[in-house]
Amino acid sequence: MDISTTDLGLAARVQQLTKTYGAGGNEVRALDGVSIGIRRGEFTAIMGPSGSGKSTLMHIMAGLDAPTSGRAWIGDTDITGLSDLELTILRRRRVGFVFQAFNLVPTLDAIGNILLPFDLDGRRPTALERARIDGLVQTLGLESRLRHRPHELSGGQQQRVAIARALATSPDLVFADEPTGNLDSRSGREVLGLLAAASRDHGQSIAMVTHDPVAASHADRVVFLGDGRVVADKPRQSAEEISAYMLATELGTPEPVVLS
Ligand SMILES: Nc1ncnc2c1ncn2[C@@H]1O[C@H](COP(=O)(O)OP(=O)(O)O)[C@@H](O)[C@H]1O
Ligand SMILES: [Mg+2]
Repeated sequence: MDISTTDLGLAARVQQLTKTYGAGGNEVRALDGVSIGIRRGEFTAIMGPSGSGKSTLMHIMAGLDAPTSGRAWIGDTDITGLSDLELTILRRRRVGFVFQAFNLVPTLDAIGNILLPFDLDGRRPTALERARIDGLVQTLGLESRLRHRPHELSGGQQQRVAIARALATSPDLVFADEPTGNLDSRSGREVLGLLAAASRDHGQSIAMVTHDPVAASHADRVVFLGDGRVVADKPRQSAEEISAYMLATELGTPEPVVLS
């Protein structure tokens, strides 16, 4: 019997990923040899200082950006070898994402945006999916906003619409970059509860970038990035443990002193 990456329990993985931007003297190495697997049914938090490569990693894992070198898989599929069309179809069917750079469609109202993944796939939600969407809308407090277009919504409401859209099709894999960034603490907790339930109750695999130790404490696993590398990979931690670790490592690696 073949043993595939799926059998090994990885919903997505990357191997020896590098990403450089610019060239010559302006070259920035955003990712520097990252190898990591997102385990099936697990809620993984990715933390690290600003500029450590978190968004770049998420974009490549979700097939929205290509690496400079290395490979990326979604399930058994090596996505670095796919055409744009194949990637689009795979993403539409299997991946939900909440990314700043891929926001809501301004001409569609909230419910139109939430149902967009179905429209793009040329189908309508089943009764079961419809019930799930209604539940998401209610939990996210969007009932009275469904006919509003993005410019008529606050930043937090837009963020919640993007989260409903990402979860609407119950995708195997959800990538979220700072999904609680724009939210007040109550909405933030609800979103974290939804993501935790998606993995715990529905077996979905979640990868969430956050800088907030409290948000990361909802995850089963916390991966820390620093300067484009994985610097730590820990099982579930309390917010206090995460804060203490971040503080200690920052103290352990001070900015180099430049002598002129
Ligand atoms: N499109 C881009 N062009 C040039 N540099 C970029 C681009 N995107 C990201 N970078 C650089 O790559 C590094 C990692 O960025 P990013 O992945 O956004 O980090 P994070 O999400 O952890 O803040 C940073 O130094 C950033 O300035
Ligand atoms: Mg970022």
